[in-house]
Amino acid sequence: MTLLKKAFLIFLFFNFLTFSVKADLMSEGKEIFNGKGMCMTCHTLKAAGATGAVGPVLDELKPTMDQVKKVVTEGINLMPAFGESGLLTPKEIDAVSFYVAKSAGK
Ligand code: HEC
Repeated sequence: MTLLKKAFLIFLFFNFLTFSVKADLMSEGKEIFNGKGMCMTCHTLKAAGATGAVGPVLDELKPTMDQVKKVVTEGINLMPAFGESGLLTPKEIDAVSFYVAKSAGK
């Protein structure tokens, strides 16, 4: 096998790895959104089948990942500080933030 072919196979392998990590984050994020994070009780997000009406409609807000991460960590008004209270781990907050940022408005 030529070096070029080897390099190409390695490239394909890493693409596959990043793809599966992203798919995992999406399903973990959705699980947290409707489960442990209770986001669906207060927010509407079509992709998650959530119709909560206490907080803003996430499909309209279309927040960035950093925006979600900040508010889930620190809380805001009625919304609990999931990070500071330890309700969600930093890894869980990453997953739910990635999920919301990627699926809002879809
Ligand atoms: C008890 C109800 C409640 C729960 C549970 C809740 N939120 Fe919220 N959320 C709110 C309210 C209310 C606001 C608006 C606060 C304000 O701006 O006064 C808000 C705001 C937000 C915003 C917008 C922040 C901004 O930059 O304006 C995002 C994004 C968000 N929530 C995501 C989430 C996610 C993700 C979860 C689950 C981990 C969650 N929320 C759980 C009530 C809730």
